[in-house]
Amino acid sequence: MLFDAGIHSTADARRLAQKRLPWMVFDYIDGAAGQEHGAALSAQAMQDIRLTPRVLRNVAARDLSVSLFDKPALRPFGISPMGMCNLSAPGADLMLAKIAQEHRVPHGVSTVASTNLETLLKASGGTAWFQLYFTGDGSGTLKLVERAKTAGYDTLVLTLDVPEVGRRPRELRHGFKMPFRIGPRQFVDFALHPRWSLAALVGGSPKMANFDGKDYVFDRTESRAAADWSYFDKLRTIWPGKLVVKGVLNPEDALRLREAGADAIQVSSHGCRQLDSAPPAILALRDIRAAVGPDFPLFFDSGIRSGEDIVKAYVMGADFVFLGRILLFAMAASGVSGLNIVWNLLSQEVSLTMAQLGVTTIADLKTQDHLWTCSASN
Ligand SMILES: Cc1cc2nc3c(=O)[nH]c(=O)nc-3n(C[C@H](O)[C@H](O)[C@H](O)COP(=O)(O)O)c2cc1C
Repeated sequence: MLFDAGIHSTADARRLAQKRLPWMVFDYIDGAAGQEHGAALSAQAMQDIRLTPRVLRNVAARDLSVSLFDKPALRPFGISPMGMCNLSAPGADLMLAKIAQEHRVPHGVSTVASTNLETLLKASGGTAWFQLYFTGDGSGTLKLVERAKTAGYDTLVLTLDVPEVGRRPRELRHGFKMPFRIGPRQFVDFALHPRWSLAALVGGSPKMANFDGKDYVFDRTESRAAADWSYFDKLRTIWPGKLVVKGVLNPEDALRLREAGADAIQVSSHGCRQLDSAPPAILALRDIRAAVGPDFPLFFDSGIRSGEDIVKAYVMGADFVFLGRILLFAMAASGVSGLNIVWNLLSQEVSLTMAQLGVTTIADLKTQDHLWTCSASN
């Protein structure tokens, strides 16, 4: 069961997803900012990290669990918040919630999720974290914070790397909009991808489910640029639970956020969807870890494509790792079975990499001793 559907790597899942999804949806998920140099550089930086295998260390019993905010997570990776997941497959949000519940890992629920935040908290067995975007003058944002509190969320993820939505030419070319609009161009695209289109017809076209238009209308393109440090302080005062700040690449920002009361920072380039010239997030992680010291919780996402990449993020300083696009591709490729296949293959790859490196726990990965450096260049 593990390797059916022709998925043996996340690249296989992406390839199948590309066949099945309308071009508009594939490019919304896969696209990156600007000329996509940042995405290419980020992939190269990840590849350039080399790990040193070790021998004779008895690595027969390997444990993939980690402690996250003093709770056990059964896998060293969770689900990064993503808007409109149900575009990848009908019921995708709920598939993610279920797998998060099974493995006791965080399920990032986006402000613009396609299933409402209350339903997802229940479906994830309480493992969901609510992701917040500041928008407009911030008043609607504060309503969402209250709603997440009432629903029973214990962790809020504040995403700060979208002061304005990045220009992603591939997405723009297809006229991608939320809420969904179907013009002649999209009609042809959907007609050429009947499997996806029929499923969307039966299941209803995906919506931004946290907004019913009564309380607060969310406009995805509205500016989020007015957020400043006083807004952060206000949020810290009203949110009693854990506060994670996502989208930080600068060590000084990380230090100031720690001082201002953030409980953790998620180092991320938003999957290179915001600033084409951003540094590879995996290298920023190393710099931020050096700045904040060993004890402050740092999470990581952006560009994870394999179990080896997950291990690399721990070696570079992460305390937990989040997955993005590859999960959407897994579900687009083969629904819940695709998701399970990708989830299991990543777990297996992490475990095999640990065996190669001579470690039996994720905590043992958190040292740059595992990095290979070319002695000729020393
Ligand atoms: C289709 C899509 C939608 C996303 N929506 C959100 C969102 O609503 N909120 C957020 O904080 N990040 C969002 N992200 C960014 C992800 O949380 C994460 O940072 C990124 O996908 C990681 O990069 P990767 O996909 O290369 O692994 C989105 C990413 C994708 C691909």
